[in-house]
Amino acid sequence: MSGFVDLHCHLLPALDDGPATDALAVDLARALVADGVTTVAATPHRTATFITPLDELIERRAALDRLLHEHGVELEVIHGAEVAVNALVDMDATELAALRLGGSGPLLVEFPRADAFGDPSWPVRELMDAGVPVLIAHPERIALFQQDLAPLRDLVERGAHAQVTSGALIGRFGRTAQSSALDMIDHGLVDVIASDAHHGELRPPETSAALAWLAEYRPNVDGAALAVHTPRVLIPPQAQAS
Ligand SMILES: [Fe+2]
Repeated sequence: MSGFVDLHCHLLPALDDGPATDALAVDLARALVADGVTTVAATPHRTATFITPLDELIERRAALDRLLHEHGVELEVIHGAEVAVNALVDMDATELAALRLGGSGPLLVEFPRADAFGDPSWPVRELMDAGVPVLIAHPERIALFQQDLAPLRDLVERGAHAQVTSGALIGRFGRTAQSSALDMIDHGLVDVIASDAHHGELRPPETSAALAWLAEYRPNVDGAALAVHTPRVLIPPQAQAS
């Protein structure tokens, strides 16, 4: 199996709840490489109140590239963000386009953890209707999708992709998230496994462990498709080459 393409990771230092320092970002990058990742999307949070200007985001990723080069870490880092659903309504088309994975891949969107008032899916449906592809971050950790597969199935049938977090499969987020992740995979609703790593040790990349776990408990599931092939198809070739 060739290297993992990790489409969800909080790798940029001193920005969100990812690594607090450059040194910790290097540690996380080394942990990603050790786990088998060759390409990773740096996806800091973008919420209604936590907003990083696009030019700063681009500069921070360039600075990370320089940092990793200085430390001899061979890891391709592509552009992205993890966009909260409730932030979508205030974002203009330019920002939405700019935050897509690799520049023109899907937009990684995060649903609210707890039950929200009303239907939280409509901004995502509108986005897809407007032609923006969507990758749903860790539905197995979201109450809306844990309770019932129908809302996730509806979005997937409309063209959304779903990303399960590696650690969820091996139980890092508890039994509910683990069984939800498995249920979603069993029902063919999951296209991607990603690390959502935040720290080299405290919240580490665990995709190799997740695939080993799947190989034992779901030997019919194609782990390489989830961690390598489909993520690579979802991001644009220019991002992969840059
Ligand atoms: Fe995340």
